[in-house]
Formats: sequence, structure tokens, C-alpha cells
Amino acid sequence: MSEHLRLGVNIDHVATIRNARGGAHPDIMRAAEIATKCGADGITIHLREDRRHIRDEDLTRVKDATDLPINLEMAVTDEMISIGEKFKPHAACFVPEKREERTTEGGLNVAGLHNQVAPAVARMRDAGSRVSLFIEPDPVQIAVAEVLGAPVVELHTGKYAELWLAGDKAGVDAELEKLALAASEAAKRGIEPHAGHGLTYDNVGPVAAIPELAELNIGHFLIGEAVFVGLEAAILKMRALMDEARS
Ligand code: PXP
Repeated sequence: MSEHLRLGVNIDHVATIRNARGGAHPDIMRAAEIATKCGADGITIHLREDRRHIRDEDLTRVKDATDLPINLEMAVTDEMISIGEKFKPHAACFVPEKREERTTEGGLNVAGLHNQVAPAVARMRDAGSRVSLFIEPDPVQIAVAEVLGAPVVELHTGKYAELWLAGDKAGVDAELEKLALAASEAAKRGIEPHAGHGLTYDNVGPVAAIPELAELNIGHFLIGEAVFVGLEAAILKMRALMDEARS
């Protein structure tokens, strides 16, 4: 189990800090450059409907700053898909989005929203992007992802992270089991499983050790940690912990 587990660095919250003062600092281009230099495998950005962090003009700025594949997280709306079709990111990750939420709560219910998600998947696939669906680690959602023709699913680790924070050992183990089963189920169906949300130095190991996972997307913790140690050091440490879990 030594296969390289990719690390996608989500730089949304560099933009959150920038937007707190409305200026240009800290610059997301610099964050993308640093992540590229220190071995990230991809850059993830989420253009939310309310533009609370990444803004429209940031898309091309990030593209200009890195040669890494860009993973654009997007809601299943005509506005976002139209932007995605023009931007043509390497990967398009469909996520649920509610204006009132602080962050993406829960996975996209692709089983319940099949009729909305199907044309969205087709449009981004036709635009040349690798489509990913951000879902709960649930076999029903994975079966529908296969019907939808998604080449990638990203498993939501938010519940796992919350249980970890609460010190609920039995809950953590149960959620980890769900993640492992979901990753294996996806791989069996020919879908590449990724995972992310709420991952930290403390809780990344058991997730990174799930052998079928090909990529983790990590944002908030890395940017928060960067305040203390710098972005490069934060990414390098996360990278080392992921490698350790796979060794
Ligand atoms: N993956 C997806 C699909 C997300 O929406 C997010 C949050 O933007 C993340 C991963 C990263 O989560 P966190 O910022 O908690 O590391």
C-alpha cells in the first residue's frame, strides 16, 4: 500500500482572509505558487454562489499561477456550470451549497437529485473536465454515481472529523468503516475515490491509510496552520503524515 496519495490543497481561505479587508493581500496566486513548489498535486477552489472567498476573477489568476491540475468545486446551478464550461477546470467537483451554511455540510444527494445532477455531469464532461461528485460514504450514492457516469467521487469526511473532535472513539471507528467500504465499493465500480473535509494533522492518518483512496482535498486546517508555521511547512507536514500512513 505505497501508492502515492495525491494531496489537493484548497486555497479558498486565503481568499477569505483577503476578503476580510477587501484588498489584495494575502494573494491566492502566491498560495498557489507555494503549494505548487512544495509538492501539492492539485489546487482546489470553490466558487460559491455568494462569492464569500474565491471570486470570478480568481479563476484565471489561479490558472496563471500554477501548472497543477485545478479542481473547481461548484454547485449544481446553471450559473456555475456556465462558468465551469468556460473555465474548463481539470476536475469539476459538484457539491451541495446552501447560502446559510458556514461550509459544505453533508454530501450531494445524487440519488435524490439524479435528474438535476445528470445534465450537470454531462455538461462538465463535454467541457472536458473530470467530473467528481462530493457524496456521503453511502453505497446507494455510489451506485447512482456510477449510473451518472462520474469517473470520481469525493467522500465527505466531515462527520468523521466531527466525531474525532468530540472524542467519540466508537463513532470515529464506525465512520471510518463506512469510508473504507465506500472507497472499496467505488473502486469496484471503476470510480476513483477521493476524500476530504475537516482533515487535520491529527485525524488524517486513518483516512490516508484507506488503500483505494487516490486523493485527499484539504483546506481550512492547512491555511489555519499556515498562520503559525507558513503554508509551505504546513503542506510539507501534511504530505509527510499522508506518506507515513501509506508506508
Ligand atoms: N472537499 C470538498 C468537496 C469541500 O467542499 C471542502 C471544503 O471546501 C474540502 C474538501 C476541504 O475541506 P476543509 O477545508 O475542511 O479541509
